[in-house]
Amino acid sequence: MVRNVAEVVAELDPEDVHLLSGIEHGMRFSEWVDRRKLPKFSRLTAEEVDYRIDRCERRGLLERKTIQYEGYKLTFEGYDALALHTFAERDTIEGFGAPLGVGKESDVYEVQSYRPMALKFHREGYTNFREVQKEREYTADKEHVSWQYTARKAAEAEYDALETLYPDVSVPQPIDHNRHAIVMERIDGVELARARLPDDQIVPLVELILDELAGAYEAGYVHADVSEYNVFVDEGGITIFDWPQAVSTDHENADELLERDVANLLGYVERKYPGAIRDGSPERVAAELTTGEFSGFDG
Ligand SMILES: Nc1ncnc2c1ncn2[C@@H]1O[C@H](COP(=O)(O)OP(=O)(O)O)[C@@H](O)[C@H]1O
Ligand SMILES: [Mg+2]
Repeated sequence: MVRNVAEVVAELDPEDVHLLSGIEHGMRFSEWVDRRKLPKFSRLTAEEVDYRIDRCERRGLLERKTIQYEGYKLTFEGYDALALHTFAERDTIEGFGAPLGVGKESDVYEVQSYRPMALKFHREGYTNFREVQKEREYTADKEHVSWQYTARKAAEAEYDALETLYPDVSVPQPIDHNRHAIVMERIDGVELARARLPDDQIVPLVELILDELAGAYEAGYVHADVSEYNVFVDEGGITIFDWPQAVSTDHENADELLERDVANLLGYVERKYPGAIRDGSPERVAAELTTGEFSGFDG
């Protein structure tokens, strides 16, 4: 995303926020919100709605359609703007900074608070949703599940996991969440995928990651998306992030997912540092993690 949502948010009047919130409300019932319903949903006069639509559309916060009826929906920038506005009102964040990472299903930015933080906007459902809509054309709105809903659920799931795990497990400290966005501690360091580890540090580092996975299991979670891209490495140790898809250890596939996480990690290490780990059967290691018996690799 090139445009700076933060600048747009700073320019918004309270009435613009009412309009955007009104459209957000309407999107719970249909993908496109009928223009005639906007005065009621946003508690603005019809003239005020006209003026606010114009302003918000120019800023890329809304999308319009005119076939069948005149309707509006929020763009993801519009939804981002509402979340940012809420964080600013709560004094969770004071400033907006550079992108920290664009993931498969998120945009992450540095934000300023009493110390530097990371703000993650979830995008789950956004791309898929577009494809689904194209195929469906004008089918009934009944089946409509907005990408906002999917993204909001993912953000809630991630925030819940972080709140449970922090500080016993090495995860970013959760600070606040709203809609599809979460604010968390900003982690310095490099992704495991980009780290160049000296030979004598490979095994201890992998053991450290596995210990954290054991800690998460004990606290009731399996990450379920462990990869070299979701682990940060720095001098102080490691941090495991990106938890929206984490499953409860009560889940029927939990142990299978843990084994897959372990296999992903050990597989990566074996490809990048062949022979570094000699007794790394994912099945055995995962089983030991679930019982707290894992005590490291031999040799
Ligand atoms: N707490 C954080 N501190 C610093 N950078 C982060 C933080 N969380 C995420 N990032 C950066 O943003 C990228 C995407 O975040 P991630 O949580 O992995 O989302 P995705 O599900 O899209 O992969 C990461 O690869 C990382 O570079
Ligand atoms: Mg990721």
